[in-house]
Amino acid sequence: MQPMTRRQALLLGGAGTAAIAAGAAGLWWTRDTPQGVSGGADFEQPPVLKSVNGHLDVELTAAPHQVRIAGRQATVLGYNDSVPGPTLVVQPGDQINLTLANQLEAPTNLHVHGLHVSPQDNSDNVFIAIAPGEAFAYKYQLPEDHPPGVYWYHPHHHGNVADQLFGGLYGAIIVQDPHAVAATRERVLVISDISLAADGSVAKAHPMDMMMGREGNVVLVNGQVNPTLQARPEERERWRIINACTSRYLHLELDGHKVELLGIDSGRYAEPRTVDDVVLTPGNRADLLVTATAGTWAVRAVAVDRGGMGMMHGRLGSAAPGQTKTTLATFEVNGTPTEALDGFSQQFAPRDLRAEAVTAKRELVFGMTMGMGGGRGMGQGTATSGATRDPGMMEFTINGEVFDPDRVDITAGSGSIEEWTLKNTSPMDHPVHLHVWPMQLIETQGQTVQDLQWQDVVNVPANSNVTVRIAFDNFVGKTVYHCHVLDHEDLGMMGVIEVR
Ligand code: C2O
Ligand code: CU
Ligand code: CU
Repeated sequence: MQPMTRRQALLLGGAGTAAIAAGAAGLWWTRDTPQGVSGGADFEQPPVLKSVNGHLDVELTAAPHQVRIAGRQATVLGYNDSVPGPTLVVQPGDQINLTLANQLEAPTNLHVHGLHVSPQDNSDNVFIAIAPGEAFAYKYQLPEDHPPGVYWYHPHHHGNVADQLFGGLYGAIIVQDPHAVAATRERVLVISDISLAADGSVAKAHPMDMMMGREGNVVLVNGQVNPTLQARPEERERWRIINACTSRYLHLELDGHKVELLGIDSGRYAEPRTVDDVVLTPGNRADLLVTATAGTWAVRAVAVDRGGMGMMHGRLGSAAPGQTKTTLATFEVNGTPTEALDGFSQQFAPRDLRAEAVTAKRELVFGMTMGMGGGRGMGQGTATSGATRDPGMMEFTINGEVFDPDRVDITAGSGSIEEWTLKNTSPMDHPVHLHVWPMQLIETQGQTVQDLQWQDVVNVPANSNVTVRIAFDNFVGKTVYHCHVLDHEDLGMMGVIEVR
């Protein structure tokens, strides 16, 4: 079965046409949700590469890739001719030897987002550039106590990140649990968005799209439009969800189900939390348990308002005007109920930095300024980047500066615990990400965070503050923090931190 086009999917989602789809199996009809739901092709997952005896050897080639998306022939980018790229499955303590070959037209490199590994040399070093036609051998050594969870990989060559990610370059990494969580089935859902031009190529972003943070007009789950996931009642599924969109925020809901959140990013909770919905900013991941309920259900993304550019332009949204919910996938649950699974074995207790002494406090101001009237950056380029710097482009800054790979913005002591106030002075949300070391949320918008919450991407809403704490443990070296609206990162909203 061909993947459906978005239009077909939307049409079939209407109550009237659901009857047609249900015709062959009338049972669905009676169990349908009131709106009527009907999915597309069977859900597929990327190929899995799993470590053996503590090692995972991987060869990835980034290259143009021909694929059918939403019923159309498209030329996108892929790792190993797959969108998403292969899922890497490892254990704490493993070593990943990964060679990346660049068959793109622009330089690229690789970042293992969220992994707690060294940022130096040929480990998670984002300052490396792999020229077209070249290859580079990475080696990542995971600590023995690396947190289990869902991570991902994507390009990180400044100035090309948004284009390459939007084109289709991303893949999942799973660090397996030392104590298995009982589930009938595990699934990886890599959610991304893309826009295709008339000729099937990936649509180019205009300067305005970049300033707003581009959003594709098709949202894909593992490269598919509205795939159908099949299960039997009472089955407990583990869904590892990655927001691999370049800029789009995902506010996910699944009606009629018990959904338990095991954690966000590397931040596994001591106890699963029962939730109604989950919001993932670009870069965030969710690790969920879903106990299946009979019926045909939609996994939906609710439109998220992430601000705008102030006086000049409208609001940003993750849906077309008037459209508030997008169906991302269809969960079709029928057949004989299975035996319910037991509860969980107790997980570990995460560290709590609220109980520890802070060694330094900093303020990072995330701002947007008009480039007009001269000043640095305006059309003249800066020392920085391969980024296109159109005249009239806004500058996206941290503490007033655009990214410069040769400047160290923050020096932190190895083993120190810092408290950072992330201050957003712009009318747009920025999801702030730090490499290597996760952040514990302390306060958001003046409210103390009660729960123990660790994330590696933290949303800082327009015109407000978020306070986090970070323990700079285990590794030294230079790496980056940036806005994970990747157009903003490419436009300069990134800084360099050196831990030593
Ligand atoms: Cu997911 Cu610096 O990135
Ligand atoms: Cu990252
Ligand atoms: Cu931003």
